[in-house]
Amino acid sequence: MTIDLLTPMQAMAREAGALLMRYFREHVEIEYKGDVDLVTVADRESEKLILERIRKQFPTHDVIGEEGARIETGSDYKWYVDPLDGTTNFAHGYPVFCVSLGVEHLGERIAATVYDPTRDEMFTAEKGSGARLNDKTINVSATANLAQSLIATGFPSKKRHKNPNIHFYHQLTLRSHGVRRAGSAALDLCNVASGRFDGFWEFNLNPWDTAAGVLLVQEAGGKVTNFSGGNFEIASHETLASNNLIHATLLKEFQEILNGRQDDLPSVAGYSKDRTL
Ligand code: IPD
Ligand code: CA
Ligand code: CA
Repeated sequence: MTIDLLTPMQAMAREAGALLMRYFREHVEIEYKGDVDLVTVADRESEKLILERIRKQFPTHDVIGEEGARIETGSDYKWYVDPLDGTTNFAHGYPVFCVSLGVEHLGERIAATVYDPTRDEMFTAEKGSGARLNDKTINVSATANLAQSLIATGFPSKKRHKNPNIHFYHQLTLRSHGVRRAGSAALDLCNVASGRFDGFWEFNLNPWDTAAGVLLVQEAGGKVTNFSGGNFEIASHETLASNNLIHATLLKEFQEILNGRQDDLPSVAGYSKDRTL
């Protein structure tokens, strides 16, 4: 990379994280973008701050932000900004959220910064230079079996009724140490990069959710594909990340589930009949 992006990216993410924490302590009002798609003043103010900093320091760069920031001039550099990933958590006072910044150069992901202000954790990665957490190198886990893995997923806030993920959740829960659903895709990917999770998948994420986290996983030695093992693309509707070692097993699981494999769920009627209070 020819320009230093990580220093300014970290400064912006830290500043935006401090802003989020101020609103978090005040308990902001919830607004709605759709039926269950939440947004708050903190999302908008964080994006405004980041956009101002990018414009000042990199006036020729393109920007795509979740809350509407758009600079599209055909620049070689493109920033993907999620000013608050984990809005639902944030709005309910559940401290699992972050700021996510990813930069592409000529369509290739080159720099990533995810800042979790609740734990003061700064995740960074630069193409070809590895991944770091608070300046210390991080690596994906060494877990070689799905059965001994802790994995994660997420459910979208929009069009939940159309999402088949509950079937995947059920089947992978039965075949691993468990599936966590923490509510911040960017942090889920960072947790794969740092070896806390062995894998993560989600349907229908947006570029601002994945731009930084995907590079972090790859630079930490992990793998990211779609559900068929094909290249992960920024516009991809499928994100499957892992420590690499369990990737083939996860792909096999996905293939079988996509082909219609089902495990019986215990029946609620049966439980209701035998219930003792
Ligand atoms: C959401 C979070 C969540 C994921 C959703 C995303 P937001 O982003 O990453 O974990 O399950 O699909 O939309 O709306 O909080 O920025
Ligand atoms: Ca997001
Ligand atoms: Ca967001």
